[in-house]
Amino acid sequence: MRRKIVAGNWKMNGSKDLVSSLVGQVRSELAPLDNGVEVVIIPPALYVSDVVALAGSQIAVGVQNVACWDSGAYTGEIAAGMARDAGCSYTLVGHSERRQLFGETDSQVAAKVDRALASGLGAVICVGETLEEREAGKAEEVVSAQVRKAVADVGAEQWQQVVVAYEPVWAIGTGKTATTEDAQAMHASIRAVLMSLGAPADEVSLLYGGSVKADNAAALFAQPDIDGGLIGGASLSAKDFVSICRALP
Ligand code: G3H
Repeated sequence: MRRKIVAGNWKMNGSKDLVSSLVGQVRSELAPLDNGVEVVIIPPALYVSDVVALAGSQIAVGVQNVACWDSGAYTGEIAAGMARDAGCSYTLVGHSERRQLFGETDSQVAAKVDRALASGLGAVICVGETLEEREAGKAEEVVSAQVRKAVADVGAEQWQQVVVAYEPVWAIGTGKTATTEDAQAMHASIRAVLMSLGAPADEVSLLYGGSVKADNAAALFAQPDIDGGLIGGASLSAKDFVSICRALP
């Protein structure tokens, strides 16, 4: 049985005011929700403790990035163990903004996955092709390679901590969403890649991300291989985020 997950990535947005207004509202509106969805809020790291304090048992908390190392002279970095210590259950790894704006490589992504899993965090591994790669007919090849490299060192007993988020780069923050058919096809392809690697692929949750909104979430989440969403912009509104959480079947 795969977990159904909706994770809200605030990116570099928010404030103490947003934490107190949004988390409280999401918490109270989710209370009667019984569709089994696991809700995760992923604020900027400075606000993690504030979100943890308000989240209650129904909302998990994550960080947007962790270091490749456990500790040491790495100014500005945050270790996976520190995120765990602060109350996080998840970290994103390899978000396309990290890959594109900060030059994060596949080998760094693999090292971060390794550190996250060893620290007891769930790793939401982000993969996705650019528009150029899609138009060149290389989307599946690119995504498959990203997945293979990111999970290369995952141990047999660690798969339950792995989540893969497919986010076509051209759909992030643009208002363009993959069609339900294209999104489903890529998710099925990712599951096939995981299976070929010997992973318990039917148990790994696969999320779609990229301009998911309250009005398109249900159609995406209805696809057989889409187990939830990684939400950016719409996660900054309690009303929209809760609607998306409710859209899971
Ligand atoms: O992490 C979230 C994704 O990058 C999607 O962002 O929903 O604003 O397109 P978006």
